[in-house]
Amino acid sequence: MTVIRSVVRGCGSYLPARMLTNHDLAAMVDTSDDWIVQRTGIRQRHIAAAGEHTSDLAVKAAERALAAAGMAPQDIDLIVLATATPDNTFPASAVAVQARLGITGGAAFDMQAVCSGFVFAVATADSMLRAGDFKRALVIGSETFSRILDWKDRTTCVIFGDGAGAIVLEAQEQAGTTADRGVLGAKLRSDGRHKEKLYVDGGPSTTGTAGFLRMEGKEVFRHAVGMMTGAITDVLAATGTTAQEVDWFVPHQANQRIIDGCAHKLGVPSEKVISTVAQHGNTSAASIPLALDTAIHDGRIKPGDLVMIEAMGGGFTWGAVLIRW
Ligand code: UT7
Repeated sequence: MTVIRSVVRGCGSYLPARMLTNHDLAAMVDTSDDWIVQRTGIRQRHIAAAGEHTSDLAVKAAERALAAAGMAPQDIDLIVLATATPDNTFPASAVAVQARLGITGGAAFDMQAVCSGFVFAVATADSMLRAGDFKRALVIGSETFSRILDWKDRTTCVIFGDGAGAIVLEAQEQAGTTADRGVLGAKLRSDGRHKEKLYVDGGPSTTGTAGFLRMEGKEVFRHAVGMMTGAITDVLAATGTTAQEVDWFVPHQANQRIIDGCAHKLGVPSEKVISTVAQHGNTSAASIPLALDTAIHDGRIKPGDLVMIEAMGGGFTWGAVLIRW
């Protein structure tokens, strides 16, 4: 029996021009290149220019994804933008992207699951495409975390950066086996008991300000590997696949030690894990599509490959999605 699958047609990404190295940061707060590299693997991050907003980054990534898909903006009838740093409290930054691309039909909305945002957005768009109400979705992760960082707090300001990435998903009829192209399975999880371990200390309903990011890094770290590998194991079981069959693992790019910890726990060789954290730091919801785009451009991820994306972040939220490219 045939089924509808959400097939990836294109991918694109964008990083702001300005780069901030670990050495630059060492001149701003009490830190060092050695500490940042050893504890996180991060060497540099990109910072949006004054007046460059989350929707601007998202539009550039979306245009590149559309070009890779060989599609025009009018082909899109759904935009899901994962972000924790929207341009404004409302409307959704997704509608700014929609207007800038000249799309007047369909629906556009933001998805708020912080660093897990892209995984949540792909799973949500996939459900909506499979339900038959939409045909082609732009799924975007775009963030300007530099705007919510306390640049005097060395425990957080060295970790995060700005950027955007996007994929185009298209509803296609497939055979209904794991050999199909497209999204094959997804697992999403949240546990609000952890909400104070990674949060922003402001908001429209509390302080009336945007606030600054606060993180108990060690506590987040302690949960990250178990939560992500748990979601991956669930997706593998639900789809009848094994970790060995997966060609590429594309984790949220938060910390090289977390990325390595997940690979070790799953028994996956590091050659199968895409890591770009050194180049752009933790860009929250943008990190997975940025890593995907890098691995497509350098020829690692190819059509037909089995790709697992996985993330964990504030909330806590976590999840994984298995996609045959
Ligand atoms: O994206 C979503 C989720 N976020 C994450 O996944 C982040 C998870 N957490 C982490 O990646 C790590 O916990 C960090 C990279 C944030 C911190 O690494 P850590 O190995 O857990 O270090 P720590 O917090 O235990 O700090 C160790 C030491 C402390 O000094 P003392 O108390 O041992 O004297 C810190 O004060 O390092 C100090 N420290 C720094 N030193 C230099 C903390 N930040 C810095 C810094 N430069 N930037």
